Amino acid sequence: MNILITGCAGFIGFSLCKYFSKFEDYNVIGLDNLNSYYDKKLKIDRLKIISKSIKFINADICDRKKIGQVIKSNKITACFHLAAQAGVRYSITNPDEFFNANLEGFYNVINQCRLNKVKYFFFASSSSVYGDSKKYPQKETDRTDNPISFYAATKKANESVSFSFSKIYNMNITCLRFFTVYGPLGRPDMAFFNFANSIKKNKKIYLFNNGNNFRDYTYIDDVIFSIKSIFDKKIKSKLNNFEIINICSSNPIKTTKVINIFEKIMKKKAKIEKVENALGDVKKTFGSNNRIKKYTKNKFTDVRTGITKYVKWFNEYYK
Ligand SMILES: NC(=O)c1ccc[n+]([C@@H]2O[C@H](COP(=O)([O-])OP(=O)(O)OC[C@H]3O[C@@H](n4cnc5c(N)ncnc54)[C@H](O)[C@@H]3O)[C@@H](O)[C@H]2O)c1
Repeated sequence: MNILITGCAGFIGFSLCKYFSKFEDYNVIGLDNLNSYYDKKLKIDRLKIISKSIKFINADICDRKKIGQVIKSNKITACFHLAAQAGVRYSITNPDEFFNANLEGFYNVINQCRLNKVKYFFFASSSSVYGDSKKYPQKETDRTDNPISFYAATKKANESVSFSFSKIYNMNITCLRFFTVYGPLGRPDMAFFNFANSIKKNKKIYLFNNGNNFRDYTYIDDVIFSIKSIFDKKIKSKLNNFEIINICSSNPIKTTKVINIFEKIMKKKAKIEKVENALGDVKKTFGSNNRIKKYTKNKFTDVRTGITKYVKWFNEYYK
């Protein structure tokens, strides 16, 4: 089966390509425009790891014609659409990037999948669609009509568009709501990089909302294993449906506690300055993972084990 993974040089896309290419049943076609939102070297290094096992295409999802050609000429059966402009705070200062990749680009990919009869369409949504909800754990059936960042609004728009495509064109669509994914080769614009890097270099860490925010951190291997498990079951089932699934460990941790874990593992104290909450940041994410448990019995990695693996990679990579 030929599968297309967009955003293949990105953190989750790369990890998914690496995993899928271990199975003989799949030919992995990876697409990315290698933009410079964060250090391009990390994207190139990820690609080097998978270069022999996937077919890489350097293209922009905003190039509608090219996306159509890629899907058609490679006879794609399943698409995992992960390419997007990420970053909640960045969306407040750079909305254009989000409009292009997450709205126009998203439409191009889903519509070309429809036109070329791609059987399975998976895409990355986000826990940010829950907004500043007060009801926990956050369930897939909860209301999601209060996005507090433009990033969240684009993900919510993707969910609505894909729902309509599934109903109108009878497409089999799975919407993956990721909750703060972390691990080796992770993104340098995310908190864990900032914590590890600042502690190592004795730099000050600004803790938003005085460190009182909670995040449902989810280890990368659990995310990848979950996606593959869902995919396997969707292939076996004859149902053609639309489904939203939280991908989370269902274990929210307070930021101050996360810093303590980093300090213990790195055997060094962090320099902290507590500041007000950042615009667009939700105070707490805490997802229900009951639905994902229908697909996998995998036990989610506890955050201490996950951070230990992350720090080990961080120290080796940023020597
Ligand atoms: N990492 C998380 O914690 C998290 C949480 C929720 C949702 N998500 C979503 O999961 C997906 C993957 O996230 P990630 O952490 O791997 O991010 P990432 O930034 O590492 O990966 C995204 C990749 O998409 C590529 N890309 C961006 N715009 C493109 C375009 N116009 N054309 C082609 N390629 C383009 C980038 O170059 C990048 O390599 C994204 O959709 C993101 O919004 C991630």
